[in-house]
Amino acid sequence: QPHIPLPELALVALVGASSSGKSTFAARHFGPHEVLSSDHFRALVSGSEHTLDANAAAFDSLFYVAAKRLERGLLTVIDATSVRPDDRRRLVDLARAHDVLPVAIVLDLPRGLLEARHEARGDRPFSAAVVGRQQTELRRTLRGMGKEGFRHVWTLRSPEEVEAAWVTRVP
Ligand code: GTP
Ligand code: MG
Repeated sequence: QPHIPLPELALVALVGASSSGKSTFAARHFGPHEVLSSDHFRALVSGSEHTLDANAAAFDSLFYVAAKRLERGLLTVIDATSVRPDDRRRLVDLARAHDVLPVAIVLDLPRGLLEARHEARGDRPFSAAVVGRQQTELRRTLRGMGKEGFRHVWTLRSPEEVEAAWVTRVP
């Protein structure tokens, strides 16, 4: 369970509510240029990570860059909440269009923990209730994720499991 053997050429979706630790996990296990974060692209196109009406432009740009990387055969990690099936479908379609394996690493943490982390960081312009709703949406749709087209779905369900996880690349 703690071992995540990633295909060397994969599109890796980090899936989880805000404050679930996606960006922390990405920084720990992947190189800086391997990770495309929706917050970063929102900042690039609008000047701030938090411009919510910049979502469309941010994701267009993120997908454009992801496609360029996949064309080159570069493993690419998508750091965005992706708690909704429609959001994940776009990622699966992108991977398929480039003959790359779509895989998902899901950070499925208790709602209370997410809300506590959210309050503690205080740098997100939305309420803890929003984070709770993201987690509820993830839980509601998690069981069906295997059928969404991901080749593997690894689910980490506690901070201990997240801490213990180690990622390798298999040819
Ligand atoms: P968004 O970018 O808002 O979607 O959140 P995120 O999923 O990227 O979460 P992020 O990695 O920014 O972590 C959120 C908060 O939780 C930060 O304050 C982190 O320091 C903390 N955090 C993340 N991962 C861990 C962890 O494994 N253990 C502990 N104790 N704290 C963590
Ligand atoms: Mg983040």
